[in-house]
Amino acid sequence: MQRLHVLITGFLLVNSFCGFAQMSFDARIDSIVAIMSLREKIGQTALRGTSSRVKGTLPEELKQAVREGKVGAFLNVMNTDYVDELQRLATEESPHGIPLIFARDVIHGFRTIFPIPLGIAASWDPEVARACGRISAIEASSVGIRWTFAPMLDIARDSRWGRIAESPGEDPYLASLLAKGYVEGFHGNSLKDPTSMVTCAKHLIGYGAAIGGRDYNTAIIHEPLLRNLYVPPFTAAIKAGAPTVMSSFNEINGLPASGNKFLLTGLLRGELHFDGFVVSDWNSVTEMIDHGFARDEKHAAELAANAGLDMEMTSKAYEDHIESLIEEGSLSEDQIDFYVKNILKVKFRMGLFERPYRDKDTEKRFYLPDHLQKAKEAAIKSSVLLKNEQLLPLKKGTKIALIGPLANAPREQLGTWTFDGEADQSITPFKAFNEQSPEVLFSPGLTFSRDRSKEGFDEALRLAQKSDVILFVGGEEAILSGEAHSRADIGLPGAQESLIEKLALLGKPIILVIMAGRPIAISRIIDKVDAVLMCWHPGSMGGPALYDMIYGKSEPGGRLPVSWPKTAGQCPIFYNHKNTGRPADSTSFVHIDEIPVGAWQSSLGNNSHYLDAGFSPHFPFGYGLGYSDYAYSKLSLSHKELAMNEALTVTVSVTNTGTRNGEEVVQLYVQDVVGSITRPVRELKRFRKISLDQGETKKVSFRLSSKDLEFMNHQLEKRAEPGLFRVWVGPNSSSGLQNSFSLKEN
Ligand code: NOJ
Repeated sequence: MQRLHVLITGFLLVNSFCGFAQMSFDARIDSIVAIMSLREKIGQTALRGTSSRVKGTLPEELKQAVREGKVGAFLNVMNTDYVDELQRLATEESPHGIPLIFARDVIHGFRTIFPIPLGIAASWDPEVARACGRISAIEASSVGIRWTFAPMLDIARDSRWGRIAESPGEDPYLASLLAKGYVEGFHGNSLKDPTSMVTCAKHLIGYGAAIGGRDYNTAIIHEPLLRNLYVPPFTAAIKAGAPTVMSSFNEINGLPASGNKFLLTGLLRGELHFDGFVVSDWNSVTEMIDHGFARDEKHAAELAANAGLDMEMTSKAYEDHIESLIEEGSLSEDQIDFYVKNILKVKFRMGLFERPYRDKDTEKRFYLPDHLQKAKEAAIKSSVLLKNEQLLPLKKGTKIALIGPLANAPREQLGTWTFDGEADQSITPFKAFNEQSPEVLFSPGLTFSRDRSKEGFDEALRLAQKSDVILFVGGEEAILSGEAHSRADIGLPGAQESLIEKLALLGKPIILVIMAGRPIAISRIIDKVDAVLMCWHPGSMGGPALYDMIYGKSEPGGRLPVSWPKTAGQCPIFYNHKNTGRPADSTSFVHIDEIPVGAWQSSLGNNSHYLDAGFSPHFPFGYGLGYSDYAYSKLSLSHKELAMNEALTVTVSVTNTGTRNGEEVVQLYVQDVVGSITRPVRELKRFRKISLDQGETKKVSFRLSSKDLEFMNHQLEKRAEPGLFRVWVGPNSSSGLQNSFSLKEN
């Protein structure tokens, strides 16, 4: 029988006075902490585990640590018997019967894998994030995992960075809506529900600003930018109830995040009113030694514990040094009590004290038809059609040659962070096309994305010759993006370009489908193909989703959540940049190939651009085609002048001028023309997905208030400033109808 914590002596006392169950959370927590030894308290701050799963038999040393109350949580215990046994030891044999939390990186699915988070961001649909969270939680909780290290909310402006794959993209407004969707999805109706998972908003903060896109690298972010760009998704997650936050690996402005009091206490608890607990990233406490911030592990523990870090992941600086730091007076026991209370609060909110064990119906929750259906819908909604020379959708009966290294790569299409995804349950394009149109011709040409061997070219070309249309599915293997997998060249790896060039010589229409963890620079080959469809790593249902899109049963619904570079040399590149004193200008721009030999130094446009790559991305943020066409007209504003604390309505008419019914993502951007600090050239403020039948016109209205125009200025005051604002409504961040209004001081 499970020995409940209330059976212990201290609890009996408390119980007899007040009735433990009737006490408020806080009082119950206080009463537990009051009778815990310092050793046990330190135990609650310890998150133990191995890199992807505890293998072999459960080590006796680990069991003993749990018995002694030296562990608060585990990560990557994927054997359900071990989960049950460890929980039993914690609740029945440890001094105060405090339950453990079991954690895992369940990022975009557990068994049923959804598109990578950057793909989900491309759906511009928080409902997709919510569905991903909900289904991931239902599946993972069945094996006892109730804490996910998601959502990752790092704004990313650099496609070289491997973890852009996990990010919500480059825009804080879109990222904030997604953050809320994920948190609500993972949590479900209540954290007490055994099918819920506690979320962890990560990584606080600025991890995506790593210099040069090199993972783990330095971030330099001035405070207004920090608050205007990087903080909003965290604010949204915390507001939606995320009970845990992970500190990031990086330093920011010279202070590593895990020992950064300004972030962990000032910003997080002071400004964002976070009342859960902060977990470090993997060894990020002791990595402060390598950062050159901590002298040794003891110093690292001192810095982190005084900064506001509640729980340490994997390294043992707290376990080994907190006691002596308290003895020496460099840390107060009250601070540790505060951390333990934060951790227990989350355990209470999860209902773990009443119901520490998982439901035992386990595996039955994997791959339910609804899960697969939602994963397929997500893959369709996140696919972005970048080019279409009137080729897609194809008519039924079109003879396809399916070529390319990702056409039948079940594991690769799952993408990064899919420890629990199963290749044999992943449906590839080949499998889907072959099942539904067995006449499809298939020859990959290359065996994996980095393959440089041209041995398979002849066979691929032979089959392509027999087809009406070539469907080339290429991109990157999963391992080429994600943590520590940054790339300096973001083109198609291996001999893919060369194969596409050869295929193009056949004169057949080519559809290039990209499966990748980042935007891929395709400027060298885009003219050789007739259509380009970005599917990111689409997850378990990538094949069936592609089949439906290619034959027009569904239309690709995605819009870019990041600017798509022409070349890595343009990175970082983002739509919400500043204007500069010398804004790029297409009328004076001279391309490198057009510069006259011997040209005078200042005879070219002296503006902010690259001679060889210009100044705009290949495809702008927000861009994506559907299978129909849309015209925008009649942009109007309800007021030309707006007073502080008032709102205006922006209205536009959108007409489906194409040949089929479809969906359009109507986007509203604003520019604050003059500010007390310089302001971005555009900022996304609203968007709406609408469906329009062929020939139909709809009026779309957005309400915009002075609150939406607020930003953090140099004095770190959040306010809207009076002056002129430009407004655009259109299909992406570099087009649209324009109007303007003035904001007046009251
Ligand atoms: C390191 C990663 O940065 C983080 O995102 C992840 O949650 C932890 N490892 C745990 O696997």
